[in-house]
Amino acid sequence: MFPYAGARGKPPLRGVVMEVRLHIRLQVFKPGSGKSSISRAEKGLFMRHASASLAFMGTKYVALNDNLYSYLSGLRSDASDRLLQQLRAETAALGEEVSKCQVSDEQGTFLSLLTAAIGAKSAIEIGTFTGYSSLCIARGMATGGRLICLDANEEWTAIARKYWSKARLQDRIELRLGPAIQTLRQLEPGLAFDLAFIDANKTEYDAYYELLLPRIRPNGLILFDNMLWGGRLGDGPVEEPTGRAIDALNRKLAKDPRVEAVLLSVADGIQLCRKR
Ligand SMILES: C[S@@+](CC[C@H](N)C(=O)[O-])C[C@H]1O[C@@H](n2cnc3c(N)ncnc32)[C@H](O)[C@@H]1O
Repeated sequence: MFPYAGARGKPPLRGVVMEVRLHIRLQVFKPGSGKSSISRAEKGLFMRHASASLAFMGTKYVALNDNLYSYLSGLRSDASDRLLQQLRAETAALGEEVSKCQVSDEQGTFLSLLTAAIGAKSAIEIGTFTGYSSLCIARGMATGGRLICLDANEEWTAIARKYWSKARLQDRIELRLGPAIQTLRQLEPGLAFDLAFIDANKTEYDAYYELLLPRIRPNGLILFDNMLWGGRLGDGPVEEPTGRAIDALNRKLAKDPRVEAVLLSVADGIQLCRKR
């Protein structure tokens, strides 16, 4: 999208003319086609000018880099929490291919904060892995709260169980092992939730949503992780099934009258939905 879209003030005329010209040429460039109608220097100029213009207009988003990310990730309430650090280290030892499944530090804090802010007493997580997000949700729960965790993997969730015990939260969390859709279908009648965190099989997200929504209390929250799909969305049609499923769900949620939804650029994208 043209960077000025939706902005309030007016950029200097010369800048606009230059941006329109470069923007049109950028539109011709198709990533992956191997062809670019603009030079690297022009692209750099465009990006520099676009950021300067955004600063002039009032920035609508900030692109992260490693330093900025370390800054934001370090400056959060539980940044020095030893147990979360231990769990991240133990998960990292499983290898990068596996450990990348874990939510990010600031996502964890965000989950604790939201859970506490809405005074959640009943929550459900789909996709528990080694337990980082579940630990954060359970910590944010009011006394007497109950978190149900769904996952199909016994080995990874054994680590989660260990950390729930270390945190003395084992009485608050119940793990249900098995395929998530089947487990959701078998939930006890009348069981309702204040908060749901969805982070399992991306192509099943919509099915989880439809099975869960009737059980979410009005004003309750549903959060979906990885909804920016590694930044590959928003650039035309998607072929890959996971990307297509995520894209379709983002579009559905934006128009779904049953919820109020906002897609946040936290980590790999969080869809935050409030049940109306
Ligand atoms: C991205 S990880 C979850 C990360 C976790 N939220 C955390 O913070 O560490 C996804 C998890 O979902 C589980 N999973 C994937 N597909 C599933 C399914 N169809 N049913 C149940 N669990 C599933 C995997 O076993 C894995 O542990």
